[in-house]
Amino acid sequence: METVLSGIRSTGHLHLGNYFGALRNFVKIQNTYNCYFFIADLHSLTTHPHPEDFHRSVRTILAEYIAAGLDPESSTLFVQSDVPEVSELYVLLNMLAYKGELERTTSFKDKVRLAKAKARNKAVNEISYDDHDDEGININAGLLTYPVLMAADILIHRANYVPVGKDQEQHLEYARVLARRFNNMYGEEIFPEPKAFNFGNELIKVPGLDGSGKMGKSEGNGIYLYDDEKTITKKVMRALTDSGPTEPNSPMPEYINNLFTLMNLVSDPSTVEFFKEKYNDCSIRYGDMKKQLAADICKVTLPIREKIDAVYNDTDYLRKVTQMGRDKARESASATLSLAKKAVGFKVF
Ligand code: TRP
Repeated sequence: METVLSGIRSTGHLHLGNYFGALRNFVKIQNTYNCYFFIADLHSLTTHPHPEDFHRSVRTILAEYIAAGLDPESSTLFVQSDVPEVSELYVLLNMLAYKGELERTTSFKDKVRLAKAKARNKAVNEISYDDHDDEGININAGLLTYPVLMAADILIHRANYVPVGKDQEQHLEYARVLARRFNNMYGEEIFPEPKAFNFGNELIKVPGLDGSGKMGKSEGNGIYLYDDEKTITKKVMRALTDSGPTEPNSPMPEYINNLFTLMNLVSDPSTVEFFKEKYNDCSIRYGDMKKQLAADICKVTLPIREKIDAVYNDTDYLRKVTQMGRDKARESASATLSLAKKAVGFKVF
């Protein structure tokens, strides 16, 4: 059985983008692949969360993963920091990672610009990455080597496939680079090169509700699995619209198209068709459309929401799940680490 692996940073709640872009598909494949799903709590440390928030976030994601249908018996569900082999491989890979290439990583440059913009109270586009006055700004080495840690996550389980969105493609490519570099340097096929995993249909991009871009944790435009009916309805009703098309078959502005994209994910095809026709003959009432959209989102998310609290509060169960996940993950991780250490020249008795 081939191995699929994916991690998620432990910040905040899961939103519809996480659900439709990833989670729903994980649930579908968990019995057909050897799956590793984990909470990337080490990665979250780059932003120095408060210890209490940090712990709560790990628990939140775990509970939401399980409530949404991930089965800890079928897949290996674990917390990154429970598997120290990851950190050990990270040290080895860091020796093969060059400062220049890490500095050129898009996500690093973006984060640096964002951090500087925040610190100087300016818009991101006013800040250049090459502005070298970094004093007092949290641009730590962990942020720089973020892609190395991610490569360690993937390579430690010798994963064949990693489902990735656009924003993680470069990181996956870097994991391939490090795998090749390691194999070339130590003359062995220790690490298979991980490939992007496609769920059959084209990459689903779940748009945000603010008329532009995708739904994201940091964007503040999301609907969360944890939102109740009232919150969801309020968020959807607030989504940007206009007074409607005046010419039949007009092109759709992006913010309207986004509503249809969301509707495609949650509603019956006949419902989508109904509102498309109304759009095309200029009789659409966005209030009605949004009401329907909110109701259909709730149909998907409320059953999940109902389970979240019960799982979140069941400490014994969560302890059992994470211990089981840790044991399975460590078994695979330590086998790979032994191979890697032997190849490097450590004596492994
Ligand atoms: N960097 C990923 C993100 O922000 C999270 C992640 C960490 C990950 N390690 C991983 C994803 C390994 C896939 C494989 O979304």
